[in-house]
Amino acid sequence: MKALVFHGPGQRAWEDVPDPTITEPTDAIVRVDAVTICGTDLHILGGDVPAVTDGRILGHEAVGTVVEVGAGVRNLMAGDRVLVSCVSACGRCRYCREARYGQCLNGGGWILGHLIDGTQAELVRVPFADNSTYKIPEGVSDEQMLMLADILPTSYEVGVLNGCVRPADVVVIIGAGPIGLAAILGAKLFSPSHIVVVDLADSRLEAAKSFGADIALNGGRDDVAAVVRDLTGGLGADVTMEAVGVPQTFEQAVALARPGGHIANLGVHGSPATLHLEDIWIKDLTITTGLVDTYSTPTLIGLVASGRLDTSQMITHRFNLGDFMEAYDVFSRAGETGALKVLLTAHSST
Ligand SMILES: NC(=O)c1ccc[n+]([C@@H]2O[C@H](COP(=O)([O-])OP(=O)(O)OC[C@H]3O[C@@H](n4cnc5c(N)ncnc54)[C@H](O)[C@@H]3O)[C@@H](O)[C@H]2O)c1
Ligand SMILES: [Zn+2]
Ligand SMILES: [Zn+2]
Repeated sequence: MKALVFHGPGQRAWEDVPDPTITEPTDAIVRVDAVTICGTDLHILGGDVPAVTDGRILGHEAVGTVVEVGAGVRNLMAGDRVLVSCVSACGRCRYCREARYGQCLNGGGWILGHLIDGTQAELVRVPFADNSTYKIPEGVSDEQMLMLADILPTSYEVGVLNGCVRPADVVVIIGAGPIGLAAILGAKLFSPSHIVVVDLADSRLEAAKSFGADIALNGGRDDVAAVVRDLTGGLGADVTMEAVGVPQTFEQAVALARPGGHIANLGVHGSPATLHLEDIWIKDLTITTGLVDTYSTPTLIGLVASGRLDTSQMITHRFNLGDFMEAYDVFSRAGETGALKVLLTAHSST
């Protein structure tokens, strides 16, 4: 089969590799029908994730068709159409029993396209298949479902639910990439009074408005703190979310929260950020961080199936699977191309 293979920092190739095979009784082999690229894949290509080694097939999001299941798989059979989640779950360990699948102790968690071969391929081996896939309900498109593999549960769990967004809240989201934009969709489910989005790129601020942000601010030009003060009688935001991953925006998210407020960090950070305890010890703040667990995926599927959540705006570019190299190029130049999520489908690939 063909797959997108990592060959060390900056090196990737769409090349021939052996087909995956069942190696554990709980595995399934899934034919990839639709797949996308995550910002994390760019971090890997940038050399930021040393656990990913030469020869690894990238990708941790897909929709596909089951072609084979191991003897221990109970809930799936060949022909089933499934979402392959970014997080796999053994289902038996202490963390899986608490629905904290991201922390799975038995070889689950974020492993696809990281510690084992991933989804950017014609076929993928999915471990713990019963617990790591979701059947696609009638009436839900592959495109809508694919957005539930990673970005929607991440934003919903680590941003909206950890941040405890409540009706009438003023919510500030810093960073309007796919994660920040998905956080707008998730926050809107709780009827906040205002969603304020901050980014440095005007194209991303336009996207934020079309996703439902009430106020879109350019952090390089606008006085974000003054706008938030004006909106909140000088108190600060009820909930702030950091969806960038640099120290400056984490510190900004903390500074913009009101006493008693919540700060939900979504960003993956590569360097330390300063926690100004000398200012905030008195403010009764709650600061949360986290890797997505995907416990909310069934909820999100229900919301999409009933039309309460529409992820279709997220996909800006479409390719055939065979055009993976070009898709990476477009996605990695998001500033110029306006890419949010790119979709690759197998239908007309060879
Ligand atoms: N916690 C998790 O489980 C999880 C899962 C997936 C992604 N992430 C992380 O979430 C973060 C966002 O992901 P993404 O795919 O949306 O990334 P992205 O790079 O597409 O978006 C980041 C946005 O932040 C903006 N930005 C950069 N510097 C800024 C600044 N100083 N002020 C305001 N905006 C600024 C950029 O213009 C961009 O629009 C990343 O750090 C990613 O690694 C976390
Ligand atoms: Zn991802
Ligand atoms: Zn587990």
